[in-house]
Formats: sequence, structure tokens, C-alpha cells
Amino acid sequence: MNDRDAAWTALSKAASAAGDRRIAGLFDAEPDRVARLGLTAAGLEIDLSKQPWSLADLDVMLDLARASGVEAARTRLFGGEVVNASEGRPALHMALRAPDGSDFHANGQPISREVETVRNAMRAFADVVRAGVRRGCTGKPFRSIVHIGIGGSDLGPRFVWEALKPLAPQIELRFAANVDPAELAQVLTGLDPAETMVVTVSKTFTTLETLTNAEAARAWLRASLGTASDSHLVAVSAAPDKAQAFGVPADQVFGFWDWVGGRYSIWSSVGLSCAVALGYDVFARFLAGAAAMDEHFRTAPLEANAPVRLALAHVFNRNGLGRPLRAVVPYAQRLRLFAAFLQQLEMESNGKRVTADGQPVPRPTAASVFGDAGTNGQHAFFQLLHQGTDIIPLDILAVRTGSEGDPAAQTKLLANAIAQAEALMVGRSEADVRAELAGRPAAEVDALAPQRTFPGDRPSSFIVLERLDGERLGALIALYEHKVFVEGVLWGINSYDQWGVELGKSLATRVLAELEGGPAGAHDPSTAALIRRLTP
Ligand code: F6P
Repeated sequence: MNDRDAAWTALSKAASAAGDRRIAGLFDAEPDRVARLGLTAAGLEIDLSKQPWSLADLDVMLDLARASGVEAARTRLFGGEVVNASEGRPALHMALRAPDGSDFHANGQPISREVETVRNAMRAFADVVRAGVRRGCTGKPFRSIVHIGIGGSDLGPRFVWEALKPLAPQIELRFAANVDPAELAQVLTGLDPAETMVVTVSKTFTTLETLTNAEAARAWLRASLGTASDSHLVAVSAAPDKAQAFGVPADQVFGFWDWVGGRYSIWSSVGLSCAVALGYDVFARFLAGAAAMDEHFRTAPLEANAPVRLALAHVFNRNGLGRPLRAVVPYAQRLRLFAAFLQQLEMESNGKRVTADGQPVPRPTAASVFGDAGTNGQHAFFQLLHQGTDIIPLDILAVRTGSEGDPAAQTKLLANAIAQAEALMVGRSEADVRAELAGRPAAEVDALAPQRTFPGDRPSSFIVLERLDGERLGALIALYEHKVFVEGVLWGINSYDQWGVELGKSLATRVLAELEGGPAGAHDPSTAALIRRLTP
């Protein structure tokens, strides 16, 4: 048995012992548990003491990380080697947020100067739009931006805007992703075309949803302003020629590179609409926060490395204890889109069943992620988290100092975050419940007590942001990006491709031709019946 197999076997043994004890019991056995399982990185405080592992189990997990070659893989990642083998690409999102003067290479070629050139162009553009120097075709300054893109070209910018937008923005930013025309119709409603810029974001500039919405938005501009309104079109793409062919003025096409994965692209010109609507200085702080987390991840030893620890906690739950789901609950309304963002980051990156060299992965990979803002989630899916038949680990996030509104309400929010983590872990015993029900008829107590019992022992990670600002948000996203990378290394999969989205895309093209009146194709009877039913 090689070291790696031995480490997986050790994990199984450790996890089976963990299955026989309670998390809450570990605090007596390990008096320094809270200190040893707490960590601060790039301004984020991360507490993993409510996870089911013991301190000895953490060592087992660290052995697994070492045996899996996490350190060497990290060096290859930062060194710009091809880590996305199926597409022959490095994954260098860290280069996008590195400070000026950095020296990243993609496949041996220097890239940092090019990155700075695009960043400078973004800053210049953001500045002239915000200053009202760059105006619409009728001379009015831009007051709104419609950001069109989907997946990685949408979720990052949408999340960042929701997290950081001012209460009364100088420039309002709206998003249209879905090919469902209802979304764009809602987004355009109430906007003045003369004051609206349309930023189309697509790495490939071939995505059906995005091109459909971009054409519709251009038609909306032209309908009131004529073709002069094409000057309101801006594009972000790794295929700038296609954006220009679409009709976007050449000086309004911002490039990025094939070594930027779509779901890792918010740091590139994909973040342009945020940079314009928030102001470039805010965007620069967002990049700096991520760069601080990169530096931590690159240099901290594995045992004190936040993304590594977060990944190991996840793998302990996923592979050791067989938990296929994870809930993400930010106790911050502004972070409510975090679960949606993580769904793509984690599930598109690590939802893989074969290794990077095509062999079946001998164990489960990414868990399914879901979630919503706390406290809202408490009144929706928390019943199942507390008393359902599955144990679902949580990531709970909290912001110590609220940015707006009543500080007393912020304190109530924090109280709920802490209390939920406690309730999930500690639970409430049946004996306690029976004591409370004492005096009622025995049959009623027998029926009620189990229903009002909380089994507890439900794990959570707790992440605290001092404030919700650009730096912390950047650090938070980078933390999870690197966590995903470490998990991918442990599982031996390529976290940077996404072949699983292709089949549906190509079948949709065939079905569309049929819905538009083309000849019937070969389908299973169920699909053929649906096509007949839905043909307009
Ligand atoms: O969903 C598949 C996907 O390729 C994502 O990885 C990507 O973020 C999204 O589509 C959008 O692609 P593009 O930016 O090329 O329009």
C-alpha cells in the first residue's frame, strides 16, 4: 500500500471512531481545542472546533494532504504550470489580483505586465465613466449598467455587487443571466436607454444565453437611440475578435486569458461592471484582500493553512463520514448569494467522477451545496438541519460590525448565528425534554418528547469577518477557491475543467431546431413527447 492509500485508510479509521463519539464531548478531552482549531488568515477568523474531528484526526488529515502532494501541487499552481490538463491550461487567477510588479508566468511566459495593462485600462474606463467624461450617445452620463453574462461571467460580479453596493449608488448595476426573456425584461424596465451601458461578459463569446440577451439589449438601445447607441456597448471576453464582430467598439472590448477559468474570473475584466459601479478603488481593495489570502495559502505550512484546513474538514465529513450535502449560511443579508456562487465554484470544479488521467475516482467527490442568508434560512430549511435524518455540515459566516442599519438588530443577527451553531452541536436530550413536560399525561409525553428532542452533533465551521468590505470579501472568495483546489488535489481530479456542462448544451441546440420547426430528430419516447407538447 502506498502512502496515499495508507492515509485514506487512516482517515476511514479515524472517521469511524468519530462516528462513535459526540463533538461536544471533545472539548473536555481536548482543553486547547478551541485555540488549536481556530485560525486567522488575511483578516478572516475561522473556527473549526465544532467539526467532528479530534486534534489527532486533524493530524491524520494533514498526513493525507502531504501524501496527496498538496504542497507540490500548490507550487505547480502558483508556478503557472498546466493544472487543467484536459484543456492544457494553467489556472492563474492569483496573477489577476497580485500587486503591481509581481512576476507570474503562464506555461513559462510572463503575464504580469499584460495583467497590469488590462487593470490600468479598467481603472481608466471606470474613472472616465464615473466622472461623466465618457457619456452616452445623447450626451447624458451613464447612470446604469446592465451586466449580461452567465455562470462564472455572472455569479461573481452579482455576488460582489450585492455584498458591496452603496445604499444610493451613483451608477446602478443590474444583471441578466437567464435566457428566459423575463429576466432581461425586468432588468430593463425603468431604465433610460440614454443613460444605460450594456456590458456583455463571456469568456468564449459563444454562449447562447449571453448572446441572446446581448442582442436583445442592443435592440432595446437601438429602438430608442438608433445605431449611435452601439457606443453604449462594452464587452469582456477572452475572444475579443468575436466581441468586435458583434459590434462592440474596439476600445470598449476588455480582454482576459484562457488561463482564467470562468468561475475564477471575477478578478479579471469580468469584474469591470463592479469596478465601474463601485469605483475602482473598492475593486482594488477587493483584489488586495484576495492577494493577501493567496500569500497566506502559498506560504503557510499546511497545519496552519486556512484553505487547507477548511478542505480537510470538508473531506473528513464527505469521505470519512459519508455526508453528501453541505449548507452555507451567511448571517449577513449582503452575502446571501454566497451559496449560489459556491454552487458553481465547488460543484462545477469538483463535481467529477474520474481523475485527471481518466481513472474512476475511488471515493465520493464534491458535496452538493445549498444555503441562504441567516436568519431567513432558520425559518425555511433549518428544521431538517436540526432534526432531519441526514447530518448536513454547515459553513456559518458572520460579520462582526454591520455596515448599515440598527446596531441592535446586528447584535440579534450575531446572537442567532452563534446560537444556531451551538444548538446544532449540543442539541437537546430527550431526558431534558421529558423533564420539561413533567406533569402531562404519560402517553402525551411519550409522543411529544422524541419530537422535541434535538439529536445535536451536527457540525459547523464558523467564519467571522470583522467588517464586510472589499478586502474581506476578496479574502473570503479566495479562501474558498483555494479550498476547492486542495480538495481537488486530494481527490486527484481536475478542478478547472467542466465537461459535464457540454452534453446538455449541444442537445439544447438540436431540440431548439426542432422547436423552431425543423425535422424531428431521434429521441427517446419521453423526450419526443415533450418536444411535441412544447413546440410553439
Ligand atoms: O456553465 C458552463 C460555463 O462554461 C461556465 O464554466 C462559464 O462560467 C459559463 O458557462 C459562461 O461561459 P462564457 O463566459 O464563455 O459565456
